[in-house]
Formats: sequence, structure tokens, C-alpha cells
Amino acid sequence: MSKILTGIQSTNVPHLGNILGAIWPAIELSKNPSNTCFYFIADLHTLTSVKNADKIKESTKAVAAAWLAFGFDTQTNLFYRQSRVPQVTELAWYLNCFTPFPMLANAHSFKDKSERLSDVNAGLFTYPVLMAADILLYDAEKVPVGKDQLQHLEMTRDIASAFNNLFQQEVFVLPEGLADSRVMTVPGTDGQKMSKSRNNFIDIFQDEKALKKVIASIETDSKKLEEPKDPDTCNVFKLFALLADTTQTQTMRSNYTNGGFGYGHAKTALFELILDKFKHERDTYNRLISQPNLLEKELAIGETRATALANEKLKQVRSLVGYGN
Ligand code: ADP
Ligand code: TRP
Repeated sequence: MSKILTGIQSTNVPHLGNILGAIWPAIELSKNPSNTCFYFIADLHTLTSVKNADKIKESTKAVAAAWLAFGFDTQTNLFYRQSRVPQVTELAWYLNCFTPFPMLANAHSFKDKSERLSDVNAGLFTYPVLMAADILLYDAEKVPVGKDQLQHLEMTRDIASAFNNLFQQEVFVLPEGLADSRVMTVPGTDGQKMSKSRNNFIDIFQDEKALKKVIASIETDSKKLEEPKDPDTCNVFKLFALLADTTQTQTMRSNYTNGGFGYGHAKTALFELILDKFKHERDTYNRLISQPNLLEKELAIGETRATALANEKLKQVRSLVGYGN
């Protein structure tokens, strides 16, 4: 049995890139009965960048509804808000005291963010330690993350080893990072990597009119309707191919190369494919978003179970560092 854990920040509604690149593969892992999955909403990490309570609440609901809409089973796995198991912040404090300052100062993600953002706070600096606490609190063995997060996994292992070595026992399990081997990068409407921060994302849950408008905004070249087109350089085709089956993709490819098929047609086909492919997920998401009590109930199951596990681990750690009875 493997314990798999991952967190997704609640900064916005998950977009098509998050869904195909993170949620889908994680849901697949959770369907293997020999895995127990801890999937949580990293809403404490969100506070390093979002200072708006309503925004945090709304995004947390959106992220929760998206995981559930894609079929995450909250009975056999654990699904929770990081902030509802605040034991993690106590563990993060202990781990902070086992983390060498230069390790954090050299983190790529901190260097990158501190150059780009105006709000460079201490939370952003110690972010990897809270992430280590997320992982070590539950003895997670495997942690699926994007490539940019692999360095944080290395830090987690270093911090856990320093702690284990000092106390001469296996208090913490050393986790392994799982970077998605398929290296799927979903393009956004401008052809760059789809990202919240680039504002080039497709929110598959929005109403049809808004969705149609975003799809219409996907950038293409200016070839005329009758001209043959190159599918491999077209963002509309790339997105279509990520979602379609082989026959649909072949037909679309011929439409492009034969000519007489405009980008407007391709966009309509992509719009219809999204509606068709995600009908169930769109319906479930919108039902859950309008019934926050249901969401609350689903999260509460995981939060109770996670709290029990967190208390057990903290008891052991408190006693080792000098705060036990
Ligand atoms: P964003 O860039 O929109 O802020 P995040 O950094 O919060 O997205 O990413 C959350 C997860 O979604 C990560 O695991 C990341 O690898 C995945 N992801 C984000 N954008 C894409 C994309 N365009 N293609 C594939 N996966 C993506
Ligand atoms: N830092 C991760 C991200 O931005 C989110 C995260 C927080 C996480 N805690 C985690 C991921 C623990 C994996 C394990 O994508």
C-alpha cells in the first residue's frame, strides 16, 4: 500500500491545464485500491499571495468542487482543507528550527517569486517548510507534483533526515516526488503554457456563453477558410487533440490539411467537445458550488480523519523536542 499526498492551492477555479496536468493523473492514482490518497487544498499556502478572505473562500470551494466533480472518492481517501488541520502549523514551527537558513535562501521558487512579486513576505520564504510539514505529518510516501516543486521535495527529505538523525529514530518517512512523466503542458489561449498568472486559461466550468467567448479568443494565424492549415502549429488543434479520441483527432487533422475548414469551425468543434466530454463534471461542479453544505460535508469527513492522524504524529514529535508530559 502507498500513501500518496498532494496539495493544490486555492487561488482560483482550476483551469483546463490544472485539470489535465494535475487533477486527472491524481484521480487515476486514487483509483488503485492499493493506494491511500491524501489530497488537500493548500489554503494556508494561498495566504502568501492572496490577502482577500472572500477570494480565498470562493477559490477553496471551487477547488473542492472540481476534485469532487472529477470523481475523487472521499470515503476511501482523505480530502481536506489544510487550514482545518492547524496541527500542521505547529509541526511547521518545529521543522523551521531544523531547517538551515541557506537552504531556504537558495530555493528556486522563492528566488523567482521574490523577483516578480511586490509582496515578498516571510510566509513566502518559509513556504517549503509548511509544505514539508504537510507531507511529514501524514507519513506520505509519494508526492505527485509539477517539476517546479521537486526542489521542495528534496528539502522535505533533508529536513526529515536531519530530524530523524538527531533523534536516532524513523520519526518521519522520507517521501519521494513523482513528477508527471508525460510532461504534458496544456497550451493557453495565446499558445503559452496555460496559467492563472498569464490570464490565458480556459475555465471549463463556466456557462456556455462565456466558455464560447474564451474559445473564440484562442489565437491562430490568419489563413483563409479555403486554405489548407497546419494542425501541428495550431493551438485550437492542440487543445482538441488533448481531449478527443483517435478517430475524432484524425478527422480534425484531415479537415485542417484538406482546406475548406476555417478556424471558426475548429473552435466550434472544440467548444462542443468540451461540453460533451465534461458534461457530467460541469453538472456536478455547478450543483456542488450552489450547495456549499454538501461540499462542507465531504470535506468534514477527511478533516476528522486527518486530525486524528495529525494528533498522533504531533504527540510523538512534541515529546521528542521537549514538550511532552
Ligand atoms: P498556475 O500556473 O495556473 O498557477 P499551478 O502552478 O497552481 O497553476 O499548478 C497547479 C498544478 O497544475 C501543478 O501540478 C501544475 O503542474 C499543473 N499545471 C498548471 N498549469 C498547467 C498546464 N498548462 N499544463 C499542465 N499542467 C499544468
Ligand atoms: N506548493 C504546491 C504548489 O504550489 C502546493 C502544495 C502545498 C503541495 N503543500 C503541498 C504539494 C504538499 C504537494 C505536497 O503546487
